[in-house]
Amino acid sequence: MSVTELFERPRVDDEPDLQVTPSGGLRHLLTLRGLSRQQLTAILDRAETFLSPQGRPAVRTDALRGRTVANLFFEPSTRTRASFDLAAKRLGADVLNLDVNTSSRKKGEGILDMMYTLQAMQIDVFVVRDASAGVPAYIARHVNDYVSILNAGESDVSHPTQGLLDLLTIRQHKPDFENLTVAIVGDIAHSRVARSAVQGLTTMGTGEIRLVSPRALAPDPADMPSARILHRLEDGVRGADVVMALRIQRERIGNLDGIPGIDEYFANYGVSHERMKLAAPDAIVMHPGPMNRGIEIESSLADSRRSMITKQVTNGVAVRMAILSAVTETLETQ
Ligand code: CP
Repeated sequence: MSVTELFERPRVDDEPDLQVTPSGGLRHLLTLRGLSRQQLTAILDRAETFLSPQGRPAVRTDALRGRTVANLFFEPSTRTRASFDLAAKRLGADVLNLDVNTSSRKKGEGILDMMYTLQAMQIDVFVVRDASAGVPAYIARHVNDYVSILNAGESDVSHPTQGLLDLLTIRQHKPDFENLTVAIVGDIAHSRVARSAVQGLTTMGTGEIRLVSPRALAPDPADMPSARILHRLEDGVRGADVVMALRIQRERIGNLDGIPGIDEYFANYGVSHERMKLAAPDAIVMHPGPMNRGIEIESSLADSRRSMITKQVTNGVAVRMAILSAVTETLETQ
């Protein structure tokens, strides 16, 4: 990315204004911040229409027939990339999965020149994952009026479709958000998943949100004022209805001082059957993946009846179908 491009990046505060049109249509999805409870509920309701019973064929429509979706993943991904790909195809779109390792960005092409080139090929929706904060909003600010940008994971800042699929999974099992206690456990400081989850849960009116981590991996309290920050897993899990384990984001941690080793981490922060005895009797366990069995979660718990991990993945396709269909509806009214 060129110096000029970095300099021109918008402030993160600009993102909510950018993503909804004056008439209320979803134009881009950059963050869950600024979306109302009614808007989040409408997206979750739409996602439900794209789910079919287990063992039945996946739902297909031609809502995106004639549209083209490009997946631009500048960081690794299994779940998000595969589910956006499937979601777009199940809606009848053409899909371009750009191989970023052989793209001209590797030769120094600026991201905007790359976007201008691709939008000239009549791509309607870009799905973007990038390690740098601000990239999805920066692109959204510069593309044509008839193009949508969807944030598929932005540094440690935002992962809005993950937040939506987490909300959908929780709502399916525990629909009364106001009477829920949700504990998110692990590397909160470096987690875009935690940020989007807290934003979504806060908007939905969740009774209590607890963030549990070693001190070295705790968030800035000002960053997530609606949540309680705790450092003992037992305090976080006690009475919780939902326990979400997170991976330690070693790729985003510059200095590993104060970060426990694997055995110490599991002993103090591993979500296990034993720890879950403190939670509500019908508590569910979640993990966004990729998962490190035996580090942040006991392997057999991840495969137990409490675990919603594969359900989260199934819901991920439905949520991405909902977002793709919503933004293309907005593009049709532009
Ligand atoms: N949860 C998540 O974003 O997974 P991927 O990195 O595999 O997309």
